[in-house]
Amino acid sequence: MRLKDKVAIITGASRGIGKAIAFAFAREGANVVVTGFRSPADDAAKAIKDFGVESLSFQLDVRDSKMIDKMISQVLKEFKKINILVNNAGAFIVARVIEMTESEWDYVMDVNAKGVFLCSKAVAKVMISQNMGGKIINISSTAGLVGHKYYSAYCSSKRAILAFTECLAEELAPYRINVNAICPGDVETDMLTEEIRKVAELRSVPEEQVREEKLRSIPLHKFAKPEDIASLAVFLASDESNHITGETIKVAGGK
Ligand SMILES: NC(=O)c1ccc[n+]([C@@H]2O[C@H](COP(=O)([O-])OP(=O)(O)OC[C@H]3O[C@@H](n4cnc5c(N)ncnc54)[C@H](OP(=O)(O)O)[C@@H]3O)[C@@H](O)[C@H]2O)c1
Repeated sequence: MRLKDKVAIITGASRGIGKAIAFAFAREGANVVVTGFRSPADDAAKAIKDFGVESLSFQLDVRDSKMIDKMISQVLKEFKKINILVNNAGAFIVARVIEMTESEWDYVMDVNAKGVFLCSKAVAKVMISQNMGGKIINISSTAGLVGHKYYSAYCSSKRAILAFTECLAEELAPYRINVNAICPGDVETDMLTEEIRKVAELRSVPEEQVREEKLRSIPLHKFAKPEDIASLAVFLASDESNHITGETIKVAGGK
């Protein structure tokens, strides 16, 4: 088991990629804290216990530093330490710049970029005081590497995560805390379904056309499964990646 007795927090683990990462960590022996936004990720936490590890679930808005602090003190009360943080929670909007409202822009930037800052700041303080090293994994996107029309807020927020990852990795290196980013391409989750629906609506074309165009642009000609992202997250959370920090790694079928 590669994460035996580690304590990991995964934001946005009620579904999709975050949930797959939570299950993969539990399979490797970690005790896993999962968070949901609209409700606590209770179903995920219950399923995690079937792996023979402990789990806690919280309702968390990553834009709210008070909620983050409260969650962390409850995690420390229960588990006494934090070894791994996965900043996975995310939101998106598909809109033309000239039509996007200021609040839509702020929402995406706040959840995706500020949320990573707030959670990393709070957990890094704990990791430094523990003096046991640690792993922070930020879920960005291939949208953070290349800009696309209608995705300005999402691409900007995801690129901000990549810059932040490099900065934080240097700051935390003296404490043996590794900070890396994963850039998934298209992954079969609720987010992708919703994204395809909104792009089709914006372009006034059938959803099937948008889906086909996306598939054609991927050399492996298939979308990733959430588990494809989870296996890289396990590697980055484990001792196998101890000499890797400040990196951005794509899981995108060759795109
Ligand atoms: N799917 C893709 O194709 C893809 C590609 C590249 C990158 N990503 C990134 O991967 C991550 C996970 O994506 P996914 O596809 O699994 O998304 P998803 O199915 O839409 O799940 C998003 C998760 O984030 C939570 N969340 C939303 N707003 C939040 C907030 N303000 N505070 C805390 N949690 C919040 C949601 O909670 P609720 O369930 O309670 O709403 C849910 O658990 C995101 O950062 C996304 O940008 C996804």
